Formats: sequence, C-alpha cells, structure tokens
Amino acid sequence: MSEDSEQNLFLPIGDIQATDAIIDFSCLFGNSRPVEIEIGIGKGRFLIDAANREPDSNFIGIEWAMKYLRIAHKRALNANLSNVRFVRADAREFVEFFLPANSVKAFHIYFPDPWPKKRHHKRRLINVEFRSEVERTLSEGGRLWLATDHQEYFEAMMEVFGESVILEPVSADWVGARTNYEQKYIDDGKLIFRQVFCHK
Ligand SMILES: C[S@@+](CC[C@H](N)C(=O)[O-])C[C@H]1O[C@@H](n2cnc3c(N)ncnc32)[C@H](O)[C@@H]1O
Repeated sequence: MSEDSEQNLFLPIGDIQATDAIIDFSCLFGNSRPVEIEIGIGKGRFLIDAANREPDSNFIGIEWAMKYLRIAHKRALNANLSNVRFVRADAREFVEFFLPANSVKAFHIYFPDPWPKKRHHKRRLINVEFRSEVERTLSEGGRLWLATDHQEYFEAMMEVFGESVILEPVSADWVGARTNYEQKYIDDGKLIFRQVFCHK
C-alpha cells in the first residue's frame, strides 16, 4: 500500500491547529449525512460492517494502535468504502477537542480496556469527564452503545452514565458484526454486558 493511499482515509489531525481544531463533518465526507463514531476499533470488524450496512451514514473509527488501524484501513479500502475515516488519536482528546457539539448520531464503544487493577482505574476511558463529552457531542436522539465482558467496569459505567440527566438507558436490538474481542469472549463462554443510552 502506498503512503498516499494509506493517507487518504486518515484525518490530518497533525495539521490541524488547536485554535481551529473543530472538525467540519460536511467537509470531511463531502456530504451532510449523520456521523457515527467507534472508539477503539481494533481491527475494524464492527466499523467496516456497519459502514457497509449503512451507506447513508458516515463513520469515524478512532484507534491509537497503528498496527490495528492499518488492518482496519486495508479492510475499508478493499470494501471500497467512501463513508469511513480513521483517526489515530487518544479518543479522549479527539472527542474533547475535535468534535462539534450536538453532532454525533452514535458512539460505539465495544470492549474498552478494563484496567482491572484499582490503581489503574484512572486510565479507563469511561469516567465522569468522558460522560460530559458524550453529553455535549451526541445529537438529540443520538445513542451510545456499550459492551464489555468485565462486570466491574460495566457496573462502573452504569453508575457514571446512570447519573446523567441527559442520557437515558434504552433497550435496543443489537445488530452488526461481532468485534474480535466479542467473538473471542463468546468462544470462551464469557458473559457479555451491554447497554444503550439515548440522548433525550
Ligand atoms: C480491548 S480492545 C477492543 C477492540 C475492539 N473494540 C474489539 O472489541 O475487538 C481495546 C482497543 O481500544 C484501543 N484504545 C484503548 N484506549 C484508547 C484510547 N484512549 N484512544 C484510542 N484507542 C484506544 C486499544 O488500542 C484497543 O485496540
């Protein structure tokens, strides 16, 4: 894969100045279709399948591990998808500094690193600060999709999002491809914890 073809689906985050960091989705995708964001895409199984299934939505995949991003990016190129962009970033910073308010139709967060040791809990993605950013950036009726195999982290997530006055838990049908971790945990016979929240 040439460097050019590798670049063309990546957001030029490095070139964006802090002062004009907010992303204009219409410029980025060339249309004003709704935008869904997956955080921690791994090898991109869910994202690529979702972009295929929903050609009338745009998708941004955030991942900080380049080795996974390259695999996901190659899959998007092979599938000839024009509605996907990738960004290599810390999702916390990307959401806080680059996403406009009331702009995101859905966040998908599947099997975020659980950081099981108590002294590492501060490294977890999902905390009260992150919740504020989800509340700020989700559009009305927008959804946050969460899944994990880690019960204690799930309970912590439910506490964080359960205290929101803007997001409410809803039941929803789960569609789409299983992520790599999801498949692995199902094969291992583990329980999967899931919840969807909707922006009122
Ligand atoms: C346990 S894996 C799950 C991957 C995928 N969602 C799945 O279910 O197969 C967590 C992923 O999130 C990425 N990740 C963790 N924290 C991140 C952050 N703050 N910003 C971007 N990516 C992150 C990791 O590199 C890893 O690929």
